[in-house]
Amino acid sequence: MRKKLAAGNWKMNGTLGSMIEIDALMEKHPDPKCDVLICPPATLVAAMAATIGDGAIKTGGQDCHAQTSGAHTGDISAQMLADAGASYVIVGHSERRQDHNESDSDIRHKAESAISAGLVTVVCCGETDAEREANSTLEIISGQLAASIPDTATGENLVVAYEPIWAIGTGKVPTLEQIGEVHDFIRAKLEKRFGQDVGCCVRLLYGGSVKPSNADEIFAVSNVDGALVGGASLKAADFSGIITALENS
Ligand code: PGA
Repeated sequence: MRKKLAAGNWKMNGTLGSMIEIDALMEKHPDPKCDVLICPPATLVAAMAATIGDGAIKTGGQDCHAQTSGAHTGDISAQMLADAGASYVIVGHSERRQDHNESDSDIRHKAESAISAGLVTVVCCGETDAEREANSTLEIISGQLAASIPDTATGENLVVAYEPIWAIGTGKVPTLEQIGEVHDFIRAKLEKRFGQDVGCCVRLLYGGSVKPSNADEIFAVSNVDGALVGGASLKAADFSGIITALENS
């Protein structure tokens, strides 16, 4: 019932030359059994959408502003991303929360704007190392979900990514039990807030050091509907292994 999603976040990496990775990915996966999404830097959204054409891979942004337009130098609105060919956007990535001091309420406003623009919105949450050590992971996730996800969320327009901050780009991965505990918790929270019909349809991604070599076991965990992948999404050869693992899960 939930279509699995392999999402790549290129972060601040890639130039026009990187479109060869998109070509390679389309060649390897012309008709994937799961949704496949790449979120390149904003400079490449239009080029990627044009490269993909009516191919199966979807294009997404990595962030958007909460307003639709105006005097916000350097920012990009959800409408602009949609206009450039994006159908998804990530909001609330921990690197935005940390580097740009984004609060849960900022993220909620961005998500509202993204949903209004017709984008599927990937809201990220996750605890720091210190928060996990202090046994406050579930409390942190609960607070982030409650304050970052707008009331307009549905099973179709919302995806939640659980990304423990200490696992991002570090090669450290939580145990499968830890991933399962948080994903089951997120599912229960969404069902409680939005009702079972909506809560059961929201896709939950795990993110943080996902690689072809650990994807199979992560995708077997309950309530893991895919992955948000940073480093291993940059090369088609690596990301392809993750897509295949998800298709076979
Ligand atoms: P990583 O990044 O796969 O490089 O750990 C994940 C993310 O930040 O989305």
